[in-house]
Amino acid sequence: MNINRRCALALAGALVLGGATGALAADKKITLGFAQVGAESEWRTANTQSIKTSAAKAGITLKFSDAQQKQENQIKAIRSFIAQKVDVIAFSPVVESGWETVLKEAKAAKIPVILTDRAVSVKDDSLYVTFMGSDFVEEGRRAGHWLLDNYKAQGNVNIVELQGTVGSAPAIDRKKGFEEVIKAQPRFKVIRSQTGDFTRAKGKEVMEAFLKAEGKKINVLYAHNDDMAIGAIQAIEEAGMKPGKDITIISVDGVKGAFEAMIAGKLNVTVECNPLLGPQLMDAVRDVVAGKSLPKRIVTKESVYPQSVAAKEFPNRKY
Ligand code: AHR
Repeated sequence: MNINRRCALALAGALVLGGATGALAADKKITLGFAQVGAESEWRTANTQSIKTSAAKAGITLKFSDAQQKQENQIKAIRSFIAQKVDVIAFSPVVESGWETVLKEAKAAKIPVILTDRAVSVKDDSLYVTFMGSDFVEEGRRAGHWLLDNYKAQGNVNIVELQGTVGSAPAIDRKKGFEEVIKAQPRFKVIRSQTGDFTRAKGKEVMEAFLKAEGKKINVLYAHNDDMAIGAIQAIEEAGMKPGKDITIISVDGVKGAFEAMIAGKLNVTVECNPLLGPQLMDAVRDVVAGKSLPKRIVTKESVYPQSVAAKEFPNRKY
């Protein structure tokens, strides 16, 4: 056999082998470990549902863990995914800080990590592949702009703020974006600001305390999510006031419960935060396993829904 023929055969063999490897990689059953924040809100329920149904549709084996809003539970879940040698780990971090050690462990085990919904604050961004989710600062800005553009009464405007979970990216960023915008008009002042932990029960409890302390001085409520706003609406009604009229209410998420409250005239506006991240996450998981590179940041597209469009938009809402 001459040298050229030998080379051609070797090349053909390599191509066949390469093809077989490619086919194997494509057929390989992918296992994804997902560490969820908890089940604190209507938003979170929709997010979990989206991840579970999209994994099933994509034929990806999902190992799902619910951290019940505790960082230590999420860290435990991530360590267990590493021990089980899953192909990819994804998680929505309860809080922003304190992730370096466990992310280094995942990197040492060569397991790629995808962040969904919430960001982490780490010095080395090679500890995760990509972060997909909303721009929370922009959501806060949208809430602030809506207020400045729509609050017509003259004089000082007293705002109370229900913050999300302390130390979480959406609580930090939504506060920041809102403040950034309202400072342009000093008559708008946040007179009280406290966490309601993104839950209805806590939102109600903290609003009751705000009402006790400030009563009729409160003009506006800015809630970092719809669930806290819905809890607060109950507190306002129990205090004998009209939510959406006596107190203007702005919240974030755009869940069905918020649309119902807007249709009933009890909530003035909701800034959308889309929880349906499942399909995008499964695409990213497949791409990472296939060795494709992903953008470091994938931002979700979102809108603002005022009360005036609620009835028309309600039938189109998917969560
Ligand atoms: O991280 C997204 C936030 O978390 C949602 O706005 C809130 O409802 C959820 O609990």
